[in-house]
Amino acid sequence: MQNVVLSGSGVFTPKHKITNDELINSYNEYANHFNEVNKDKIERGLIEAKPQSSAQFVEKASGIKSRYIYEKDGVLDIHRMRPNIQERADDELSQQAEIAIEAAKLALESANKRAQDIDAVIVSCAYTQRSYPAIAIEVQHELGIKGFGFDMLVACSAATFGMHRAYEMIAAGTANAVLVINPELVSPQINYTDRDSHFIFGDVATATIVENESTASSKHAFDIISTKAFTHYSNNIRSNFGYMTHATDKDPYGADKLFHQEGRKVFKEVCPLAAEHISQHLLQHGLMPKDLRRWWLHQANINMNTLISKRLLGREATLDEAPVVLDQYANTASAGSVIAFSLHHKDLQTGDYGMLCSFGAGYSIGSLLIKKR
Ligand code: COA
Repeated sequence: MQNVVLSGSGVFTPKHKITNDELINSYNEYANHFNEVNKDKIERGLIEAKPQSSAQFVEKASGIKSRYIYEKDGVLDIHRMRPNIQERADDELSQQAEIAIEAAKLALESANKRAQDIDAVIVSCAYTQRSYPAIAIEVQHELGIKGFGFDMLVACSAATFGMHRAYEMIAAGTANAVLVINPELVSPQINYTDRDSHFIFGDVATATIVENESTASSKHAFDIISTKAFTHYSNNIRSNFGYMTHATDKDPYGADKLFHQEGRKVFKEVCPLAAEHISQHLLQHGLMPKDLRRWWLHQANINMNTLISKRLLGREATLDEAPVVLDQYANTASAGSVIAFSLHHKDLQTGDYGMLCSFGAGYSIGSLLIKKR
C-alpha cells in the first residue's frame, strides 16, 4: 500500500456577501407582503401566516452572522426570493465548473503541482447543476488534465467522502495525484421564503490535492493516517428535486423540492453520532481526543460543534483547537471542514495530529486523521 499525503488546499470565496440584517429585513418584508396579500385566506384558516425572522435568533441558534453568495441579485427582492442566475449555453463554461476551477487553481498552487501532475478529478458536493456530462470532466478538460474525472453526491459529507476515494486510489496505486473539488453552489436550492431555513447556507468552492508521498513537495503537507465513513438513513434533511419531477406533474420548485429539515431532530441525533464516530476513529490508532492538535469540524451550526467538543473533551474546544468559519461563511454543505482546514493549518508542527470531520444529511459522517509531516 502506498503512503498518501494531503498536500494542498484552496478556497474560492464568492465576491458577494449577505449579512443577517440584510437577509432578515428582506424576509420580513416578504412575510408582511405575503400576509397582506393572503389576508382573507389566512383569516379563514386556509393557509398559515408567515412568521417574522430575527437576526438575534439566527446568530444565537446557529452562530451565523453572514454568508457569501455566487449571485446576490434577486435574493433580497421580495418578489423573487432566489438568485437571478443567467442560463449558459452548452458551449459556455458552467457556473459550477467556473467556481470549481477557481478553487482547483488555488489548491494546485498550494500543493506545488501543475495540471499535468494530476491524473484524476473528483467533483464532490451536495448538488450538481446537471446530470451529465460530469462537472468533473468539464473541469478536467478546462484545466488540461489527462486521466479521468467523475462527480459524487454525498450532501454534507461530499468533501470528506471525495477525499476518501482519492486516498483509496492512491493507496491502491491506481492514481498518483488526485484533485478533489467541492463547488458548493447551494443558494439556488434554498427556500428564502422559509423562516426556519432561509439563513442557513452560503456558497463557496473548496479543493484539495491528495497524492502519493513520493511526489509530495509542498511546504504544508500532511500524512493521511486513515479515513472513516459512516452513513445511517434519515429523512430529517431532504431535497426532493430531481429528474423524476418532470414525470410527476408536481411543481418542480415546490417547498419540498428545496432544502428542508427537522432541525431539532438533526441536532439531537447527529451530535452524538459524530462524537462517537470521532472517538472510535481515534481509538483505532490508540489516540484520545486530547491528542488532537486541531479539529476541522463540519460548519453547520456552532452549537452542534460546541456540544460535540464537550462530549469528547469534557469542555468546550478553544477556537485554536476547533476553528470556526461558519460565522462568515454560514453552512457551505460539505465544504465547511475544508475551509476550516485551508484557513487554519499552517501553524501545525511536525508530528501534530489533526482531524477533518463532516456530518449531516444522509445521515453521513466522514473523517480523515492526518499528521503534519
Ligand atoms: N427567527 C426567529 N425565530 C425563529 C426562526 C427565525 N429564523 N426560526 C425558528 N424560530 C423560532 C421557532 O418558531 C421556535 O419558536 P417556538 O419555540 O415558539 O416554537 C424557536 O425559534 C425554536 O425553533 P427551532 O426550529 O426549534 O430552533 P432551534 O433552536 O432548533 O434552531 C436550527 C434551529 C436549524 C438552527 C437548529 O435546529 C440546528 O442547528 N439544527 C442542526 C441542523 C442543521 O444545521 N442542519 C443543516 C444541515 S447539516
